[in-house]
Amino acid sequence: MQPSSGENVNQRIARISAHLDPPNLHMDNTASVSRLNCRAKGAAAGFRVAILGAAGGIGQPLAMLMKMNPLVSVLHLYDVVNTPGVTSDISHMDTGAVVRGFLGQQQLEEALTGVDLVIIPAGVPRKPGMTRDDLFNINAGIVRTLSEAIAKCCPNAIVNVISNPVNSTVPIAAEVFKKAGTFDPKKLLGVTMLDVVRANTFVAEVLGLDPRDVNVPVVGGHAGVTILPLLSQVKPPCSFTPKEVDYLTHRIQNGGTEVVEAKAGAGSATLSMAYAAVKFADACLRGLRGDASVVECAFVASQVTELPFFASQVRLGRIGVEEIYPLGPLNEYERAGLEKAKKELESSIQKGVSFVRK
Ligand SMILES: NC(=O)c1ccc[n+]([C@@H]2O[C@H](COP(=O)([O-])OP(=O)(O)OC[C@H]3O[C@@H](n4cnc5c(N)ncnc54)[C@H](O)[C@@H]3O)[C@@H](O)[C@H]2O)c1
Repeated sequence: MQPSSGENVNQRIARISAHLDPPNLHMDNTASVSRLNCRAKGAAAGFRVAILGAAGGIGQPLAMLMKMNPLVSVLHLYDVVNTPGVTSDISHMDTGAVVRGFLGQQQLEEALTGVDLVIIPAGVPRKPGMTRDDLFNINAGIVRTLSEAIAKCCPNAIVNVISNPVNSTVPIAAEVFKKAGTFDPKKLLGVTMLDVVRANTFVAEVLGLDPRDVNVPVVGGHAGVTILPLLSQVKPPCSFTPKEVDYLTHRIQNGGTEVVEAKAGAGSATLSMAYAAVKFADACLRGLRGDASVVECAFVASQVTELPFFASQVRLGRIGVEEIYPLGPLNEYERAGLEKAKKELESSIQKGVSFVRK
């Protein structure tokens, strides 16, 4: 291309070198057109979503998939490490959402201001030999800190808690919100979607069906025996032999451990979890948009059993959880499973509550 008549050699060199050595994230104003002055400041109408723990094993693919979600207009990526790199990378995807990165505690409040949905995959993952409860002490503190900031900066946002142990971290967030006077049980949801995703996959394998055509309600909680697949309520209607019920229940309850052991020290489920988290977040956003009949399983404040929190099918709407469905008819196997699940859930919930009240 010929230079324009007014362009001298020095200007041409400056133009070419700007391409060879592009300004970094913190040097916007050295470019001739500063990024801050670009016209494209916002995207199409949509929701503002924050991911806390966005640079982690779950956080990164989750951020990528949320950038691809047409319901998202603004995506805030917050972590205590590495967000500039993840943000720069993801911001180059030519989808509608505008991506902004936030690094470290001093930028947490900015990351949360004005958002409609907060997704929390921050924390340490399980290593072989660890149970979800072993993670408690580290992740409980992280979720408490993040929840305090949510109560202050976006008390009306829907909150999706992924950090384990979900059976305790959801009660922790609830206690923090109660202390701050902002608790709305319709807006706080523990993400148990991965249990449903696994159940759909494993049941489809046994039945020889496409997993997209299968729906297994999974109730209770999100750890070991608290994960209770209701195989008697699978859609499409089907029946299983007692051997199949044992195999499926055990595999669904131990799906997390299967991945932890296969990764042999490199962490827990991240890719399938990011997929499940996006499936769930998308359902929350469709509810917020006003779509009818958005029903998913989630761990929420509930009166379905005598416990203060329980996972079951819920209908998502403009204000969050609009309806919590009862468990429906259980068979004897499931009733026995429910009793076991409730016993363990009770102590995990209490552990979370005591952590904040102590
Ligand atoms: N709900 C589920 O079904 C499910 C499934 C798998 C994993 N998990 C849980 O999700 C969590 C994350 O797992 P992972 O594999 O992504 O772990 P990871 O270690 O790869 O990533 C966690 C991220 O959190 C960040 N982080 C730590 N402290 C933070 C803080 N105070 N504020 C913001 N970010 C912080 C870390 O810097 C890291 O980037 C773990 O608690 C894990 O047990 C839940």
